[in-house]
Amino acid sequence: MKTLALTVRKGGVGKTTLALQYAYYLHQKRGLRVLVIDLDDQGNLSDGLKKGRLAVLSDTPASALMTGTLPALESDGLLYLSADDDVLRNVECKPEHHNDYAGNVRTNLAALSEQFDVCIIDTNPSADIRVLSVMVSADYVVTPLTLSAESISGLQLFMTHPSIGFNRIKQALNPKLEFIGAIPNMVDKTSAFQKASLTSLIEQLGKVLLQAGSGFAVIPKSTAVLEAQADGVPLWTIKKTSAKDLWTKHLHPAFEAVAAAMALPDET
Ligand SMILES: Nc1ncnc2c1ncn2[C@@H]1O[C@H](COP(=O)(O)OP(=O)(O)O)[C@@H](O)[C@H]1O
Ligand SMILES: [Mg+2]
Repeated sequence: MKTLALTVRKGGVGKTTLALQYAYYLHQKRGLRVLVIDLDDQGNLSDGLKKGRLAVLSDTPASALMTGTLPALESDGLLYLSADDDVLRNVECKPEHHNDYAGNVRTNLAALSEQFDVCIIDTNPSADIRVLSVMVSADYVVTPLTLSAESISGLQLFMTHPSIGFNRIKQALNPKLEFIGAIPNMVDKTSAFQKASLTSLIEQLGKVLLQAGSGFAVIPKSTAVLEAQADGVPLWTIKKTSAKDLWTKHLHPAFEAVAAAMALPDET
């Protein structure tokens, strides 16, 4: 099993949206056994999966990944552990257990290695023990970002933060962790500011942006995404030209690039 964490300290940048669509993509288009774990107590990913009715809800809540030993989980499709907000919120307040939590995440993920092909973990937007525990055990990280004045410094900090930055975690705690890339999301190319932000992001941090096809993966802002999220369904099932365009020109190439970086089997 390969574990992908979608994480970044900012909220509202598209972690949950990409987690949901990528989980559907890997399961439906690549036939993989996918486990989704929603560690964000806001539960947006759990809500989306519930509405979409394409995934099976596990009896085990997401917090069990950190707080105990997961029971044997199995599915030949798409299984998810739903966010249980109270317990998830409380893990941060129990620093005396933080080492145990991080250890449990590692042990639990290792125990599932034969049961699933991929585990996708959506995280909360803060640098807390949930994110740290996932980063020290995951195999891959993908980071969506929006084009704002802070996007360059935010991404730099994500990489270089002295205690919880990607570079430090990889060097000191989890050498196998790979940064697949940052994905600019909700990009509005009609905005001169956003176009200029994208250009300077590419100039300054092109090395860490996800490459897709001959360029960089960039996901435009589109109401098709809102529609897909509202019903919790795969973007490619929405019968609108804008949805089809967004899928074929942007989201699908980005997901192909992420799947290639994870060395996953090809589309069936
Ligand atoms: N490309 C996009 N175009 C338009 N809306 C988007 C796009 N990506 C995400 N959104 C919307 O933006 C909001 C925040 O996205 P979300 O995935 O919940 O962010 P995060 O998990 O990082 O907090 C949601 O309402 C989502 O549907
Ligand atoms: Mg989210």
